[in-house]
Amino acid sequence: MENTEAIKTELLAEIAKAETSKALEEIRVSALGKKGKITELMKGLGALSAEEKKEAGKTLNVLKNDVEKALEEKKVSLEVAEMKQKLEAERVDVTLPIRPEKQGRIHPVSQIYEEVVAIFGQMGFEVAEGPDIEDQFHNFNALNTPANHPARQMQDTFYIPNPDSTDFDDSYVVRTQTSSVQIRTMEAQRPPIRIIAPGRTYRSDYDATHTPMFHQVEGLVIDKNITMAHLKGCLYDFVKAFFELDELPVRYRPSYFPFTEPSAEMDIGCKKTKTELKIGAGDSWLEILGCGMVHPNVLRAGGIDPDEYQGFAFGVGMDRLAMLKYGIPDLRMFFDSDIRWLKHYGFVPLDHASMTGGLSNNGGSAR
Ligand code: DAH
Repeated sequence: MENTEAIKTELLAEIAKAETSKALEEIRVSALGKKGKITELMKGLGALSAEEKKEAGKTLNVLKNDVEKALEEKKVSLEVAEMKQKLEAERVDVTLPIRPEKQGRIHPVSQIYEEVVAIFGQMGFEVAEGPDIEDQFHNFNALNTPANHPARQMQDTFYIPNPDSTDFDDSYVVRTQTSSVQIRTMEAQRPPIRIIAPGRTYRSDYDATHTPMFHQVEGLVIDKNITMAHLKGCLYDFVKAFFELDELPVRYRPSYFPFTEPSAEMDIGCKKTKTELKIGAGDSWLEILGCGMVHPNVLRAGGIDPDEYQGFAFGVGMDRLAMLKYGIPDLRMFFDSDIRWLKHYGFVPLDHASMTGGLSNNGGSAR
């Protein structure tokens, strides 16, 4: 039997000298691996007499345990040292300024979304949501637009087959308007209701001001004694806050929507020249949103008694708001994922829209 003390001294010295986990692993294999020094010695035990085996086995076990222990201790200390070194090498200085070429941008629609939520949030509105894939009840019927109603032709609807029914009336739609969230909210909540519902909407349409997917924000207020005066005051405050103007002429034109009675469209004053559109004073008008008093049939469909409660509602195109406020000419580019467009029209991150900190003060690298 070889001198186990010598082997131990030699191995422990090697272990102590090891500078990396890899070197340490090589030492472990050389001692305890399949063909390792200690393993070979253990294999040799078979050739010894019972008496010798007992003695030598004990010695070898002690040797093995000592080496394993030394390996383990060294492993831990190497790992700690290596982690320290890694942390040192990969240190990130969070106080360094951002490299502008690496900085992302907030999409104008996200910016508008935040601005709209900030304005209505301060007025006490909550944000409500509904699904993009709707049934016809919520998108049309409950909004006083039954099948074959002529107003269905106002919207080029994408229908989705219902796997459980061949009846066309049962097919789903990708919602054509956020007005569906009016019904979903009435179903889930009792008055008083004061919500906005920003979100995606879909229609089969494509040109410079229409894309198959676009964004609307719906508004709904229901309470006792709500009148058209509340609607006018609320929307007037909204457009002034949104366009960040102290004075902004507005007018309401009679209009038609199946879910409101009376219905109106709101225009804001502007000045149009050949090259410029300036919102504010001027002799032209720009249509900005649709609105009206909630039709009694809609309240009934939502389970609300129209003799007790009244409400007003409105719907605004958010992409259109972005185009008007930030002077973006073509809607199609919004959804092309062109990084050059986003760099030009996008907003600086972490610069949140708020009523106290400013809606868009540092936004829009275009300005
Ligand atoms: N849903 C209408 C549309 O998509 C917009 C609208 C008009 C919504 C009047 C309303 C409203 O809530 O009262 O054209």
